Amino acid sequence: MCGIVGYVGAQAAAPLLLEGLLKLEYRGYDSAGIAVMNDGQLLVSKVKGRIANLCEKTEGGRQVPGTIGIGHTRWATHGAPTDVNAHPHLSNDGRFAVVHNGIIENYLALREELTAKGFHFESDTDTEVIVHLLERYYAGDVKAAVIKTVSRLQGSYALGVVCADAPNTVFAAREASPLIIGLGSGEQYFASDVTALVPYTRSVLYLDDGEFAALTANGVTVFNGAGQTVDKPLQHIAWDIQAAEKDGFDHFMLKEIFEQPAAVRATIAPRMRGRAICLDDVRADDLKNIRRIVITACGSAYYAGCAGKYAIEALCRLPVQVELASELRYSDPLMDEQTLLIVLSQSGETADTIAAMKECKARGAKTLSIVNVVGSTVATLADHVLYTHAGPEIAVATTKGYTTQLAVLYLFALYMAQVQGTVSGEEFNRLFGELEQLPHRVQNALDMNPGTERLARKYGGASSVFFIGRNTDYAVALEGALKLKEISYIHAEGYAAGELKHGTIALIDEHQPVIALCCNGAVADKTVSNAVEVKARGAEVLAVTFKGDTTLAAVADDMLFVPHMEPLFAPIAEIVPLQLFAYYVARENGCDIDKPKNLAKSVTVE
Ligand code: M6R
Repeated sequence: MCGIVGYVGAQAAAPLLLEGLLKLEYRGYDSAGIAVMNDGQLLVSKVKGRIANLCEKTEGGRQVPGTIGIGHTRWATHGAPTDVNAHPHLSNDGRFAVVHNGIIENYLALREELTAKGFHFESDTDTEVIVHLLERYYAGDVKAAVIKTVSRLQGSYALGVVCADAPNTVFAAREASPLIIGLGSGEQYFASDVTALVPYTRSVLYLDDGEFAALTANGVTVFNGAGQTVDKPLQHIAWDIQAAEKDGFDHFMLKEIFEQPAAVRATIAPRMRGRAICLDDVRADDLKNIRRIVITACGSAYYAGCAGKYAIEALCRLPVQVELASELRYSDPLMDEQTLLIVLSQSGETADTIAAMKECKARGAKTLSIVNVVGSTVATLADHVLYTHAGPEIAVATTKGYTTQLAVLYLFALYMAQVQGTVSGEEFNRLFGELEQLPHRVQNALDMNPGTERLARKYGGASSVFFIGRNTDYAVALEGALKLKEISYIHAEGYAAGELKHGTIALIDEHQPVIALCCNGAVADKTVSNAVEVKARGAEVLAVTFKGDTTLAAVADDMLFVPHMEPLFAPIAEIVPLQLFAYYVARENGCDIDKPKNLAKSVTVE
């Protein structure tokens, strides 16, 4: 979704802003723009479409001279993706320029109020009220105008502001939308995402809600909403630049699929010491009184929760409810201090997930976040955080984000089982050994499916595909279907295999391939019977099963394989051939794999 960047220093700002925006491209956007201060004048350039168009229009930034500026990629919410609606927006007097991520919920009332006062609106955006408020409240002190302006805003924002009267300062403000300040030597940056900062600096500070900052070439001052200075701890970003490059792969998604063994290893290895699981700052005492677990997330993270539920319930014998965050937030949720809310998020900035988390926290739930982005909102809101060490995930379709979430859920399940006393010492040791093997299992799943590309060619022409399974296989079916539909635009549905006969089997015919997931020994035979049923109705069946399984060979037209492993943990390997399958189908169909249409990497609006 939208991205913002800002720069102040001695270098030409525009090329740096464009470079920063290119790093945020993966988040999804439909227009882009920059504003640079030059000799006390604000120069704005913005275009509909790709950043490449903006680079062309500004000749790589050379047409927009100056050493201080702000930039934006917009993902349209209020108003169509047009040049006019693109950010930055200018005040009527041309003194202020603003870029904004988020949504101003009271913009209509503010727009009316400002129009009545004679302000003229150019765009359909909610953002434009901000720049006019700045002009309205400006009386020679930009900081005071920022304080007054943000006090009028309801909703979420990460803001970048420049003012022609403050030619050496760029302002950044945050409420419920990420904003990170990068500190350099004689130059400072800000961005909505660390990937735009790592090429320049590893020293960052994270603004909290309600804070804003004034950046000059010589330093950064952070203020609270009342304008008092706040001391912020400097943090170090460990991600390397290389991790955000394609490294010879055709797409980030393929690179990230192949990074999974290393990402899973980086996530679990530091937490498995000797024969013990150490979950960072989570202690046995924190979990002893927990009687119920609610997992909440969106999209693939939600599906990771669906798979994790089976492991936690089986090992801990505690009820686990998995809830879509967009539903949970409005469900008047039942929470108490014996309920643990586990929040899953790769970005840590998904608006629905954050809102559900706040709602449950307010009702007394203890919270544990499993999140990839350090310092993100989901991480900072939680009582405890377990980071997934997947490194930056650039492709919109998550792969290593999902598998590392599963890895942490499995670690948690076994740790919790030990705390609750629901696992014998012998079983703990066996499962601990299985967890240690997870990186190898994921690697095996990558290695043992060389025919995936051929299968993608065979099935890639289908207009609809069903993924069926039971129990853990069902959870993987949901994620497998999402992977296929989001990058190849083929309709796909993950379905509980036993439910087909209750209506959906009416859709099955020779045009409707079915992918049957059969890696859960306790129920695989049942899914095999369902595969036989769909085959009898003409469907071609592509089965996913453990290597060496012969039962399915007679039923299935084609097979994908997973290494033999503990079935409770099998989803982490089982998804791998399905990720590859989705990738190759999308490639076969000429789709924009890393940036699928209409999608954004981090969904920061409701
Ligand atoms: O950053 P999050 O994990 O909170 O994101 C949640 C979903 O938006 C995300 O998983 C989405 O479904 C992906 N496009 C799936 O590949």
